[in-house]
Amino acid sequence: MVTVGENRHYVCDESEIGDPGDRVIADVRGQEIAVFNIDGGYHAVANYCPHQAGPLCEGELRGEMETGDDGWEWRYVDIKKNITCPWHAWKFDVTTGRNINDDHYAVPTYDVVVDGGNVYISF
Ligand code: FES
Repeated sequence: MVTVGENRHYVCDESEIGDPGDRVIADVRGQEIAVFNIDGGYHAVANYCPHQAGPLCEGELRGEMETGDDGWEWRYVDIKKNITCPWHAWKFDVTTGRNINDDHYAVPTYDVVVDGGNVYISF
């Protein structure tokens, strides 16, 4: 990890998360933080699930779901921005940090800065 200034922390080269759905999980000052490419924008969240401390950001990234016309079939809509915790399947919106089923739960989010082809988070 390279620290730039007091609040900017190097995460990765921008080319590592160049495509929508890409992610990098980095150790930033002893804390695992993931940066995702969500539809071309970068979003950073803690790799920590508030349920039982699972590795949230190692889960699957999906879009919103809705039922089909018959009421039984499910399909994915929207951009892929919801991460599903691999331990017990709690789901969080990566762009807001909010649990998509219960607003009482959220994970920390961080500002992302791209400078000279390098991706940083600031906190
Ligand atoms: S630890 Fe993430 S859902 Fe249980």
